[in-house]
Amino acid sequence: MKYHYKDLGLVNTKEMFAKANKEGYAVPAFNFNNMEQLQGIIEACVEEGSPVILQVSTGARKYIGKEMLPWLAKAATAYVEASGSDIPVALHLDHGPNYAEAKDCIEYGFSSVMYDGSHHPYDENVAEAKQVADFAHEHDVTVEAELGVLAGIEDDVVAAEHVYTQPDEVEDFVSKTGVDSLAIAIGTSHGAHKFKPGDDPKLRLDILAEIEKRIPGFPIVLHGSSAVPHQFVEMINQYGGQIADAIGIPDSELRKAAKSAVAKINVDTDGRLAFTAGIREVFAKKPGEFDPRKYVGPAKDYMKEYYKDKIRNVFGSNGAYKAGAARK
Ligand code: G3H
Ligand code: 13P
Ligand code: ZN
Repeated sequence: MKYHYKDLGLVNTKEMFAKANKEGYAVPAFNFNNMEQLQGIIEACVEEGSPVILQVSTGARKYIGKEMLPWLAKAATAYVEASGSDIPVALHLDHGPNYAEAKDCIEYGFSSVMYDGSHHPYDENVAEAKQVADFAHEHDVTVEAELGVLAGIEDDVVAAEHVYTQPDEVEDFVSKTGVDSLAIAIGTSHGAHKFKPGDDPKLRLDILAEIEKRIPGFPIVLHGSSAVPHQFVEMINQYGGQIADAIGIPDSELRKAAKSAVAKINVDTDGRLAFTAGIREVFAKKPGEFDPRKYVGPAKDYMKEYYKDKIRNVFGSNGAYKAGAARK
């Protein structure tokens, strides 16, 4: 073990999820790729008193660098403490492709890992998820696995259609693997192009209810849950970008899910859109600007304000812990 997550001030997701399910909210899991996105996320959660899962894909980990990442996470927990807040912070591997990657992340300070074998045959998914869970639990790390396939792009896997999670499988899967949470497919999908304008996006909350009956109280995870805010797509296009009109998951659908056994909701695309809109706005309005702080800073602020709003109005996780002072 190079780093244990406890030495970085992190926690696993066990207590976070138990409290979220008991109190009827969902913990936000926000992806990041760089320091400013991390600042936007941690500042939003500190100011709202919301628990947070800092989520890193395999690609993001490669981009940041595996040696640097633990210290970024440590910086985030130091910031929480200095602000006077007591929000719990987890560092989570998103869509871990195999046992080797999950193990390496655990040895480098992750407090939670996802093993995503959803595109493999059921028995292979079970076997590798169990292998990950056995190793993770030796180190008090929590594990998320997935059943069902989300339409759209799931890392390198492109699925044309949803394969909804089959409620009949969940009990067997959870008991055979020993995982701590389960990601399910009920109509969400990854990326900015989830539905077309004119569609009436709905989640299969009936399947969610059926799953809850089979594994009562077990923490459920929703991936692909960005709303694809129109205002950011419009700003991007107004300032020279080209993003086709698209819609995401309506806040009202997610709100219903957050009140159920859904304990974790993943958002990446919305943060990317807010960040990109902020940078494009500065470049369009101030073409002479070349100080990175002057364009990345406002981008961070858009992302932060969007996430604060989402925490209050969708996740419902605001005030679950002590809020901290805003950064001066
Ligand atoms: O679900 C995937 C996340 O949005 C991460 O995407 O692999 O481009 O970092 P990425
Ligand atoms: P979005 O693309 O909808 O933000 O989903 C992110 C996600 O599921 C990360 O695992
Ligand atoms: Zn995902």
